[in-house]
Amino acid sequence: ISLGVVHSHALSSSSPSSESLKKTFIDKCEAFIQNNKSSSANNCQKIWSAFQQAFVGRDPCNVPMEAYDPLIHTVIQDPVCNRMLFWSKTKKIVHDFTEKRDCFLTLEDTLVGFIMNGLTWCGKEESNETFTTGCPGWTDCVNNTVRSFWNRASAAFADAACGDVTAMLNGSIATPFSPTSIFATIEVKRFKAAKVKSLSVVLVTKENKGTTCDDPSLQDLQKEIEPKLKYNCKAVPESKIQDCISHPDTACGACW
Ligand code: APR
Repeated sequence: ISLGVVHSHALSSSSPSSESLKKTFIDKCEAFIQNNKSSSANNCQKIWSAFQQAFVGRDPCNVPMEAYDPLIHTVIQDPVCNRMLFWSKTKKIVHDFTEKRDCFLTLEDTLVGFIMNGLTWCGKEESNETFTTGCPGWTDCVNNTVRSFWNRASAAFADAACGDVTAMLNGSIATPFSPTSIFATIEVKRFKAAKVKSLSVVLVTKENKGTTCDDPSLQDLQKEIEPKLKYNCKAVPESKIQDCISHPDTACGACW
């Protein structure tokens, strides 16, 4: 769809926020490196410059995910076999969980995911400014600045997957494996049996209600993955995960 509306919106945004986005970006980048010594080989200025070239001066509805290739190639990220946690429609609980314990890592716990989580940004044709308001929304156009970033970052995260991977899905909705989600359209397709041993689905349920591991959408998920890749699914009550969040000393293996 054409986005004349979005453009005029961006034009009317009175205070271009190039400086503030750059500052937020660099501050979050440096804070992350401080707290994650394994990322210390990264240079936040270099990462910013690879990041901004993806979208500055471009129509915010015409930024393909490949525009972020230079960013992804600039970031130095160790793979964390057996600890990668994917998710769909469980954003809050999954991050409450990983915030409290180091046994699992989501994309948002890696450098680029951490920096961009919660931010909105875009550029404008024939402008070298960076905007944080008036940007197209998630579904306004396919190739919008923000959505393409998450698609590309998710692709890189899934490409790095190795060993036993876990996915936390939502058992309180009709279709826990949603065919339009990033998890389904990007991540699952990139799990390679040569590197990934198994996929374990943790289906978060509200006390014996909602969908079960027999759900048709989960059967689709099982069909989607390479046959050599082991699959298992376990319905876990939300309260059990909440207990693990409130008692971070519980062994991770006991959470599900
Ligand atoms: N409008 C706005 N934001 C959206 C929309 C939408 N229609 N759809 C998705 N998002 C953004 C939101 O920030 C949302 O919390 O993407 C996030 C994840 O969307 P989900 O549908 O819950 O899950 P999914 O699309 O599968 O993406 C999560 O991708 O980010 C990676 O590794 C991560 O495994 C995870 C998966």
